[in-house]
Amino acid sequence: MKNESSQPFELLLSVSRDAPGTLGTQIEGQLRGRIRDGVLHAGTTLPSTRDLARQLGISRRVVVDAYAQLTAEGYLTVRQGARPQVAEPAVGAAPAPAAPPPRPAEVRFDFRPSMPDVTTFPRATWARCLRSAATAAADADLAYGDPRGVETLRAALADYLGRVRGVVAAVENVVVTTGYTQGLAIVCRALAESGATRIALESPADPEYAMIARRGGLEPVPVPVDGDGIRVDLLEQAGVDAVAVTPAHQHPTGAVLSSDRRNELVSWLRARGTVAVEDDYDAEYRYDRAAVGAVQGLEPDRVVYAGSAAKTLAPALRLGWLVTPARLVEAVRTEKLLADRGTARIEQLAFAEFLARGHVDRHRRRMRLRYGARRSALIDALGRDLPEATVRGIAAGLHVTVELPAAEDEEAILAEARARRIALAGMSEYGVTDGPPTLMLGYGHLPEPAVGPGVRGLAEAIRAAHERRA
Ligand SMILES: Cc1ncc(COP(=O)(O)O)c(C=O)c1O
Repeated sequence: MKNESSQPFELLLSVSRDAPGTLGTQIEGQLRGRIRDGVLHAGTTLPSTRDLARQLGISRRVVVDAYAQLTAEGYLTVRQGARPQVAEPAVGAAPAPAAPPPRPAEVRFDFRPSMPDVTTFPRATWARCLRSAATAAADADLAYGDPRGVETLRAALADYLGRVRGVVAAVENVVVTTGYTQGLAIVCRALAESGATRIALESPADPEYAMIARRGGLEPVPVPVDGDGIRVDLLEQAGVDAVAVTPAHQHPTGAVLSSDRRNELVSWLRARGTVAVEDDYDAEYRYDRAAVGAVQGLEPDRVVYAGSAAKTLAPALRLGWLVTPARLVEAVRTEKLLADRGTARIEQLAFAEFLARGHVDRHRRRMRLRYGARRSALIDALGRDLPEATVRGIAAGLHVTVELPAAEDEEAILAEARARRIALAGMSEYGVTDGPPTLMLGYGHLPEPAVGPGVRGLAEAIRAAHERRA
């Protein structure tokens, strides 16, 4: 019969007196699971209570109770004299959870960019700060408070950013966010509310930033990046009111904005009366010299500085900050209020203590040494095993780009790498398909001893892709 469960139920259900739970709860649990998985879909007719009890070799009463329970929960419908059927899902009910994604084959070498090493996150210290924040918070700290954030944290950030990044920050201009992602979104909205219509974005870049700008009411205008960072000379003809830049380490190319371009950018901002959003997300990691200060320090009236704890500590903290020019403070404050009324305050108090006690500095110093060693190991290994490659973006950040001869096929290489369980990204994933094949290798969370074997595996993948093409 159509829509009748096509198999004897004893194949779908198995109950045992030795299994956990009563026979009734076992039947309920298994039927619920089969319905949610879609194995038993809406309209399927179930066996009668007598029939199922016989199939399973149990008392009919148990099946009657189990069906009654599932009917009460909305999984089954019963009509007088008819066999129960699987019910239609309720309108607005949560969809059946998708089958869990297949477990990705275990990654052997993880070169994914944008991933810091979170294994060293100082959990115990963070837990102490959280505990002390929760215990010591005044009643007033448990209210909504200023949407810009907890004042002690904003003061600690102003001090830290001035000392470490050369940012000119007064407490009033600091806004605590949940990260750069939110920072960019609220600045776009604030700019749109103040009359801006177009924002230049670096190209290539993560496509999500263009989506954020668009949803924030601004039209994103791509402006190319070369080895010296964004092409500042093209900003004028882009006809934009603002620009978002990553001067310290462009993502994904790894370029650092040259000092000439920094000056040109500041001159353009002044001449046009425009605003830059400076994404300083992994600026603390500069290897060839002391970190170069933020552009904001050169022109605090025209640059919104945006930072994040995602790379220095852990993405999961969802903590970031903005330092806005005085004339945008009110607009940004309003957008932050409308977005979420403020970032979680207990975490802010904890972070204020963490920062003020020097734990960020300590962790940053420790990680810089660790990342520096991994970066050197990676550059050595690439020189040894992929001498034909041009390695760029090595000055800063947590990833390099590896440009291969134009005859190679990026997609085929990525597929061969995946088959060898090597995780990495390619520039084509950022929409760049016209240049030579370029891979992005993150060294943030690959332990140093794994770097050499990982690069050897990658070299094999490149050879295999090449041979397939030949
Ligand atoms: C270019 C860029 N900026 C900033 C961030 C940090 O974003 P968030 O602070 O929202 O985690 C990332 C994260 O990967 C990034 O790739």
